[in-house]
Amino acid sequence: MANLIPEEKVDQVRSAVNIADFIGQYVQLKKAGKNLFGLCPFHEERTPSFSVNEQKQIFHCFSCGRGGNVFSFIMELENLSFPEAVSKVADFGHIDLPATYTAQAQPAKPKDQLQSDLLDLYADSAKMYQHILVNTELGESALAYLHERGLDDQTIATFGIGYAPKNQLLLDFFKAHKTDYQLLRQSGLFIENQAGELRDRFVDRVLFPIKDASGRVIAFSGRILTKSPDEPKYLNSPETKLFNKRSVLFNFDLARGAIRQRKSVVLFEGFMDVIAAYRAGIQNGVASMGTSLTNEQIYMLERVTDQLYICYDSDMPGQKATDRALKLLGDNSRLNLGVIQMPDGMDPDEYLRAAGTEKFVQVFDDGKQTPTAFEMQYLRHDLNLQNTQDQLTYLAAVLKQLAGLSSNVEQDLYLNQLVQEFGLDKADLRQQLRSVVGQQTVHRQPTQAAPPRLSPEAAGLTPPPPSIDGTPTNMNAAPLSRVERAERLLLYRLLHDHDVWLRVMALADFHFVHDQYQNILADAEAYFNTHNRFELAIFTDFMTDEHLKQVVTSLEFMDIASETSTEEVADLVNVIMNQHPVAEQINGKKTELTAAKQLGNQDLVQRLTLELIELYRQQQQVKQADNL
Ligand code: CTP
Ligand code: MN
Repeated sequence: MANLIPEEKVDQVRSAVNIADFIGQYVQLKKAGKNLFGLCPFHEERTPSFSVNEQKQIFHCFSCGRGGNVFSFIMELENLSFPEAVSKVADFGHIDLPATYTAQAQPAKPKDQLQSDLLDLYADSAKMYQHILVNTELGESALAYLHERGLDDQTIATFGIGYAPKNQLLLDFFKAHKTDYQLLRQSGLFIENQAGELRDRFVDRVLFPIKDASGRVIAFSGRILTKSPDEPKYLNSPETKLFNKRSVLFNFDLARGAIRQRKSVVLFEGFMDVIAAYRAGIQNGVASMGTSLTNEQIYMLERVTDQLYICYDSDMPGQKATDRALKLLGDNSRLNLGVIQMPDGMDPDEYLRAAGTEKFVQVFDDGKQTPTAFEMQYLRHDLNLQNTQDQLTYLAAVLKQLAGLSSNVEQDLYLNQLVQEFGLDKADLRQQLRSVVGQQTVHRQPTQAAPPRLSPEAAGLTPPPPSIDGTPTNMNAAPLSRVERAERLLLYRLLHDHDVWLRVMALADFHFVHDQYQNILADAEAYFNTHNRFELAIFTDFMTDEHLKQVVTSLEFMDIASETSTEEVADLVNVIMNQHPVAEQINGKKTELTAAKQLGNQDLVQRLTLELIELYRQQQQVKQADNL
């Protein structure tokens, strides 16, 4: 294996880091039985089928079948090489790896060459723009502008902010480096005229790099320095192979850790708000790209938290947007919602500068509103509550809002507020509320249905339906045949119990029916040459085939007795060997066929091939019968 980090070192890293803590950075995990469950980060899902077994230090997704140890997790998630994965986990565990090992930890090239070239181009551009801002005369006015807005050099560095000067520069830079013209065209960094000539897209703008969840620059948003009626305040990169604005959240890469720590995320309207909050120590903030949240973005957030606070501008457009966002999220997500509003119609960035850090932070500590409290305030916006007609309109709207609450205690709280404010009789209000609730249950349209509530399963309180085989539990997966169930169980016993291993390996003609188990067995033979004990996390590092790693990991999630017996093993061997004489014959025939091909005996090849086809046909029948 091309793994130049010594195995002891790899072991040291693995044993120093708890897989649940490491994965916990990316997936919100909840205890259910002896495993932890969460939403699988490798595919879309709404109920958790991703599980982590702390005792065995492995993960497995019951839905997509992916599984492995802490290194395979991050390799798959961020497309890293093995040394890079080890280095990343070592960082997390504060373990120093000698530089000679980390030097190997070059980022793995993305499989797609264009994507990889674009990433390089954006990385270079970001560096270049930042250099211009921070170190050159060309950047002086932009730097002064940012300082004026309260951003210090540290913040500028953290966010990688840059400046695109008045004269075009990027194009010349890349031309000088002989960068491929077609690549430049596709990058979105340039504008092409009718004659096919390129020029810099960003001119005289402060540039905020937009990064993907792994922190790689994939686009820019450029803010104009001085207001102009002819030009947009913010100019974004166009959509490219890298950048799909529906699935990007500004600052998600940096915020992720804080989101987990604070168990909540704050959604801002603007980049400057996210940055302002970050400076003030509120680092769990993100922003969408100047649009309302998409399902993709909601889904990214749901994976890492249960709680979202909307912190939009507190002017009227901001409140309207908050109202819309609450409805959108109420209908499309299972996040608990809250609202945070700055005083006096300001946006967070303005308020921080006006009031200072302490007061700013206090708003986040003390100023959290429930969606209902927000709506009760928002519903007043175009009403005059001195006016009886408007009072009635308001009360009707509020009662409608309260009718949607599932908690009586919460309803009561708001009813009390109405009693106080309007001097009404509580019993009357309750009566009124009951009748609104009644109407809503009768007339409720499917689209107005209450937001999907957390099922116990979605809450991670119960594991997904048990699967004795540890195989996918989704509807599409066919049940395993009797033989395959026997194979999986026997393989598990072989790996975990060396007596079983010795006994079965002593059988001259034993082998599995399905190639994948046979191949794992071959890996295990090699593994036991250099290791005395089976440990899954170590074994999967030793293996090279990703699919087989997943298969062997899935075995650990079978629900089986911890002890085996001579009888059990004999039974399993019997099922595997004797229930499938066809498989035996197929294997024999294959060997003969290979030999015949090597000999160049065409007649024999033809005859054996026909026989083989007949055997496959028989095997198909046996398999079908098996599944009945
Ligand atoms: N936006 C945009 N295009 C515009 C205006 C705004 O894409 N022409 C997006 C940007 O993502 C911006 C967000 O909408 O961050 C919020 O807009 P706004 O509140 O106007 O910007 P601020 O964050 O307040 O920007 P600044 O403080 O720099 O004026
Ligand atoms: Mn602003």
